[in-house]
Amino acid sequence: ALVNQAYRTGYHFQPPKNWINDPNGPMVYKGIYHLFYQYNPKGAVWGNIVWAHSTSTDLVNWISHKPAIFPSQQADINGCWSGSATILPGGKPVMLYTGIDPSERQVQNLAMPKNLSDPYLTEWVKYPKNPLMLATPMNRINGSAFRDPTTAWLGPDKLWRVLVGSRDNRVGVAYLYKSKDFDHWNLAKEPLHSVERTGMWECPDFFPVNTDGFEGLDTSARGKRVKYVLKISLDETKHDYYTIGTYDVVKDKYFPDKGMVEGDEGLRYDYGKFYASKTFFDDEKKRRILWGWTNESSSVKDDVLKGWSGIQAIPRSVWLDKSGKKLLQWPIKEIEKLRENQVNWPSKILEGGSKLEVIGVTAGQADVEVSFEVSDLKKVEVLKKKHYNPQLLCSKNSASVRGGLGPFGFLTFASNCLREYTAVFFRIYNHRNKHKVLMCSDQSRSSLNKHNDNTTYGAFVDLDPTQEKLSLRSLIDRSIVESFGGGGKVVISSRVYPTLAIDNQIKLFVFNNGTANVKITSLNAWSMKKAQIN
Ligand code: FRU
Repeated sequence: ALVNQAYRTGYHFQPPKNWINDPNGPMVYKGIYHLFYQYNPKGAVWGNIVWAHSTSTDLVNWISHKPAIFPSQQADINGCWSGSATILPGGKPVMLYTGIDPSERQVQNLAMPKNLSDPYLTEWVKYPKNPLMLATPMNRINGSAFRDPTTAWLGPDKLWRVLVGSRDNRVGVAYLYKSKDFDHWNLAKEPLHSVERTGMWECPDFFPVNTDGFEGLDTSARGKRVKYVLKISLDETKHDYYTIGTYDVVKDKYFPDKGMVEGDEGLRYDYGKFYASKTFFDDEKKRRILWGWTNESSSVKDDVLKGWSGIQAIPRSVWLDKSGKKLLQWPIKEIEKLRENQVNWPSKILEGGSKLEVIGVTAGQADVEVSFEVSDLKKVEVLKKKHYNPQLLCSKNSASVRGGLGPFGFLTFASNCLREYTAVFFRIYNHRNKHKVLMCSDQSRSSLNKHNDNTTYGAFVDLDPTQEKLSLRSLIDRSIVESFGGGGKVVISSRVYPTLAIDNQIKLFVFNNGTANVKITSLNAWSMKKAQIN
C-alpha cells in the first residue's frame, strides 16, 4: 500500500514529495491565486524550511514554481518560517515572514516581488534592512516565541498594523506593530489581545466579517456592519481556535463578544486535523477564503517510506452565521467542477440497524452530500452530564454502539466485509428537554495498521433537528475525509490509512445504527476527477 502511493490525494494540494506544513501568504494577484507553504526540500520530516510556491487560476489545479523565499540573508539564514501577504495600495503585494537569525532568534522580515509584471511573481527580493521587528531586552519579547506575522491592515490614521504571535510565559499574546511606511515598525504599548494560560499563539489571523451575508471584506475594511475574527493556533493543543468580537481601532484593542469562550475550550474551524490556517480576501470573487494545513496521522516511519507528509485542506469560504455567534464554512465552489458520474437518490427511509451502499461513484475519491429528516424523537437517548465533552462522547459511543436516534451518517473508506471503515455520523440526544446534535468522525476502525493515530473527533452541531434537516457533506480523497455538518456549522477533517479499503476496493455506505428509522430526504454523490496539482 505504501509503495503504490495509495494514500496520495487526487484533488488536495500537495507537492510531489517531502514535508509540508503551514500555508503562507495566500493571495490573488492579477487574477492568479498564489499559495506559498512551509516546505522541506530535503525530506519527509520537518526541517530546512523554505517557502515553496504554486499558482492557480481556479484554486483547484496548480502549477509549482521554484521556492520563493529561502535562507539568503543574516535575518533568515536558519529558516524562513510562516508569514502573510499584504496588498499595498496600488495593488503591490509584499510578504512579512519570520526569519531565524544566526543566533536562532525569531525575527520579522519583509520580501517583495522582483518584477510586478510577472503574473507568477516567481522572484522575490528581501528587504535589505531586515529584520524589521526584533525581540530585545527593552521590549521584553521572548525571541524564541515571536513569529508568524499576519496580513497588515490600514487604520484611519493611515498607519499600517500587523500582529505577531507570541507568549509571555504561558500568557498567549498577539503583539501589535504599527508603521507608516512598512519599513519602520513600532511596537504598540499594549498587545491587540492576550489570554492567560494558553501558551504560544502561532499563526494569528485577524480579519473583518460582514454581519449580513456571504460577502467577504478586505482586511482593512471597517464599518457599522462589521465584526472581527481573531484566530489563534495553540501550540500546546495543535488546534486552531477563534472568537468573534469588536475591534476598537483607536485604542487598538480587540474585545471578544460576550459569551465567546477563549482558549482551548473555544470555537474551532475544524474539530479534526487542521492547523496553522490563514484567510485571505479574494478581491476577484468578493469572498474570504480559508487555507489550513492537515498533517498526517501515520507514523514518521511510514511518512519517510511514502516520501511525503502533509497536505492542504480544500480551501473554504468563510462567513458569519446569522446568529453572529459562529462562522460558517463551505468548500470553495470551484471544487465542484471535478464532480462527475452523479448519483442521485430519491427520498427514502433508512431503517434502524440498516445500511445502504452508494453504488456508482469512485468511493475513494468522491464528494457526497446527504440530508436527513428525523421524526421518531421518542427514541432519543438522554444526555446526563452537564457539559459532556463531545469528543469523548464520540469515542465512547462509536459508530458500532447502537443508539436511539443515531448514529446515522456515512461509512467512508469501507472495506468489503467492513473490517475497516471511517464513520462520519450524527447522534441525537435529549439534554434537559432540548435536543442536542452530536457529530462524530470515528477513526477507531479506519485501518488494520495500528501505527496510525486513530483518535475519534466530535463536536455538537447547533441546530434543532425537529425544525431543520440534518445535512452532511464529505469530501473523500484517498487518505482524507473532510466533513461539513449542518451546512458548514461544524467541520471535521481526518486522515486515514486503510489497508484493505484502498484503490478500487473502497466502498461507501449510508448507515443507521439507531433503533429509530430516519428519512434520507436527498443524497447526491459524485466521483471526483483528479486535479492537476504541481
Ligand atoms: C506552525 C509553525 C509556525 C512556524 C512554522 C515553522 O505550524 O510552528 O509557528 O512559523 O510552523 O515551520
